[in-house]
Amino acid sequence: MTISTLQTFRIKYKPRLPRSLRKGIRRVSIVTGDATDSISHQQELKSMFANTYGQPVLTFKSGKKPKQLESKNIGVILSGGQAPGGHNVITGLYDALKQINPENKLYGFLGGPSGIVDNQYIVFDDEKINAYRNTGGFDLIGSGRTKLEKEDQFMKVWANCKELNISGIVIIGGDDSNTNAALLAEWLKAKNAGISVIGCPKTIDGDLKNAQIETSFGFDTATKTYAELVGNIERDALSAKKYWHFVKLMGRSATHVGLEVALQTHPNITLISEEVENAAMSLEQIVTDMTNIIVARSKQGKNYGVAVIPEGLIEFIPEMKQLIVNLNDSMALVESSSEYKQATDDQKRFQIILQHLSQTAPDSARVFNSLPALIKAQLLLDRDPHGNIQVSKIDTEQLLISMIKTRLDALKAEGQYDGKFSGQAHFFGYEGRCAFPSNFDANYCYALGYNACALLQAGQTGYISCIKNLTAPTNKWIAGGTPLTMMMTVEKRHGQFKPVIQKALVDLKGPVFKCLQDNRSKWAMEDDYQFPGAIQYFGPDEVVNATTKTLELEKGKMKQRRWFKRLRLFR
Ligand code: FBP
Repeated sequence: MTISTLQTFRIKYKPRLPRSLRKGIRRVSIVTGDATDSISHQQELKSMFANTYGQPVLTFKSGKKPKQLESKNIGVILSGGQAPGGHNVITGLYDALKQINPENKLYGFLGGPSGIVDNQYIVFDDEKINAYRNTGGFDLIGSGRTKLEKEDQFMKVWANCKELNISGIVIIGGDDSNTNAALLAEWLKAKNAGISVIGCPKTIDGDLKNAQIETSFGFDTATKTYAELVGNIERDALSAKKYWHFVKLMGRSATHVGLEVALQTHPNITLISEEVENAAMSLEQIVTDMTNIIVARSKQGKNYGVAVIPEGLIEFIPEMKQLIVNLNDSMALVESSSEYKQATDDQKRFQIILQHLSQTAPDSARVFNSLPALIKAQLLLDRDPHGNIQVSKIDTEQLLISMIKTRLDALKAEGQYDGKFSGQAHFFGYEGRCAFPSNFDANYCYALGYNACALLQAGQTGYISCIKNLTAPTNKWIAGGTPLTMMMTVEKRHGQFKPVIQKALVDLKGPVFKCLQDNRSKWAMEDDYQFPGAIQYFGPDEVVNATTKTLELEKGKMKQRRWFKRLRLFR
């Protein structure tokens, strides 16, 4: 297979490790913190995770004497949506494992969590690993969204691990996948199986973060990729001056992606789902606010602009959120009926659902009825295995364009608007999930994998691999482990209460949102567009090693700038 010129150079890139890991796993020593508690539902979670609840936070230091370590086989799983850097987690894990003992084996389970249940795997070797260093995608072993929670699945995992002599499993995934990791760790520990489970924080959505996890991997590269595209669109808008671009950006729930991209590109309108929910804004009100900006810009002769819309918006508009909850309940009851199964077209299905909703939730029935057929059909699509509505399949950007167009036509008829409105819809999601990882993600992911091996070698289970102090240079990064139960709460899923890792939504009182708030009205009217351009892999530190604005603002912008300055002085 031939590879691109960039790939030939990226494969040679040597990711940098935190100081505590640089001398190898044998030299890692552990500093143990205090016992921990879950975010909420402490008593319930304590009984659900009787063997792994409340473990201490662990921090690694570089020890003086190398330790004797047992040889080990490890299995690794990629879980959920793709995120740039996943391959580097595997290469970091592989290098650490082989450095301990070249006879150690790393098994890659194929197609996500189902691979370990069905015993579908490959054994990594140097040739395979070397070809995937610093590449994007999950194609090395594939991914999937199977939820690991049933006894028979756990039994199979145990049997397969015994057969392959695996004593450690690394699950690379988002909040749902790390919940799987916690459940599996607990089950295996209860059985005294001698198999440890460690998670790694992955998701472009950026919502797997907390006081311990500063960011999930993939967020850096994905947002930089989307920011490049949005910047290009802004320049097109500015050049052609005839389109309003509505750009929906991925991020199933939280608006971290949209917010980060907005800070990098300064679009005229940025919708933040969390703000919409907090202000209990209706769809009508969102349309009114957006229309006001479009009309105001038109009065300045600007019949163009760029609006950034979060993928998850629909679930944060209170009336839509309620509708989705009621739809889930209605569908659970109606879907299995012969009438619904025999319905041959969407109209018939809408009627059946509407009838049910009218009896159980009349307000939601009214909202459902008011929506265009396309959106109704999209709301009825299958949920994912974790019970989530598939928001990437709902054309919110189209819905907004059509509602705004109707509103503008009405204003025109009343003589209150005489501009031109031509909407262009875009959805950027899959475009960013498999990009070559930025230097940040390449380093971060390699360190997460390497560190996961250190946690397994230390016999730890029920932890997520954790690398902190990420705005500092890599040698100052702090490696360790965060107990998975520390990040947990209990939520209703598929009508049942389940333990879940809490998603981090945009903090409306935090510095990142404040930065948007402070600039919003200026960006609405002026064309203050920024053009970040493509991710750079070679060049000055400020260009190739800058983290996201989100991390900069959350962790201290000045700190990062000072580091870059100091690094320059030393070169
Ligand atoms: P993860 O939470 O598994 O990382 O996936 C996130 C995501 O990329 C969302 O942004 C998006 O809504 C969803 O996956 C799309 O899922 P799919 O790849 O199944 O279409």
